[in-house]
Amino acid sequence: MKMLANLNIPVRTVLLLIIVSSSIGSIPQCGSNPNCCRTVATLRNAGFVGSQVNIMTAIAYYESTWGTRNGPKTNKDGSTDNGLFQVNSYLWCSASGQQNDCCCPRTYEKCRRNSTLRTCSCGCNISCSQALTNDASNTQCAKTVLSLSKQGYKAWAAYNSCAAECDSYDAWKGACSSGNCCSALFPDSVCCPKADPNKHGCCPSTHPVCCPAPYQDKCCPSEYPICCGTHYCCQRSSHDAPFIQATSKVAASPKILP
Ligand SMILES: *[C@@H]1O[C@H](CO)[C@@H](O)[C@H](O)[C@H]1NC(C)=O
Ligand SMILES: *[C@@H]1O[C@H](CO)[C@@H](O)[C@H](O)[C@H]1NC(C)=O
Repeated sequence: MKMLANLNIPVRTVLLLIIVSSSIGSIPQCGSNPNCCRTVATLRNAGFVGSQVNIMTAIAYYESTWGTRNGPKTNKDGSTDNGLFQVNSYLWCSASGQQNDCCCPRTYEKCRRNSTLRTCSCGCNISCSQALTNDASNTQCAKTVLSLSKQGYKAWAAYNSCAAECDSYDAWKGACSSGNCCSALFPDSVCCPKADPNKHGCCPSTHPVCCPAPYQDKCCPSEYPICCGTHYCCQRSSHDAPFIQATSKVAASPKILP
């Protein structure tokens, strides 16, 4: 602290630099964060696929720090943002949970003061308290927002400032850095450095041996710990003729070949 004063750097400048650097390119790797893993699992359960999962995971980070800052947050117009994806109380969720209890666009101020004016259809059929506390409902609602809103991802304020970073976020990167994503996304699995690209390094717990090069994308059961072959193949020992083979997709029930 004394050094800063001696260097005569204005404190305000230093603070600004810290804020800027922590708000750009700062989404942590997903695999080491249980809240992120839970978010990815919730998105997949709700039917999000491919790049949607990555982008929505990034959006959820900026909206609610993966559900750890759920709100409700009150906006300038009096509406509230609720839960994992900060579902808005004017258009998407209602206090009562009734479908026809939301505010019509451009009537927000009047509508906020007078509840009898709330006759417009809510985008999501949920109460805002449900959106606040139930990640699965919240994520289903986020799916509705994405499909009904003409704005697409821009329906989330966060996306407007994170588009480049959010578009390129890879939620699977480091999926096995702590094993969290393995258990959240692939129950009963273990982590291998590069095993099973379809599962981002996760192997079934029945196959806990990670294969060395050139078979790094495979893993074998401990009873058959020698990795072999271009297809999925595991041997009891390198001299044994019989070996078991299983495809990477059906690794749980290996077949013994002659
Ligand atoms: C609310 O709006 C309705 C319909 O316009 C009106 O009849 C009623 O008087 C309003 N109530 C208040 C408290 O302003
Ligand atoms: C909305 O939710 C309620 C209660 O969960 C349900 O009874 C109703 O059928 C739903 N309506 C629509 C349009 O999904």
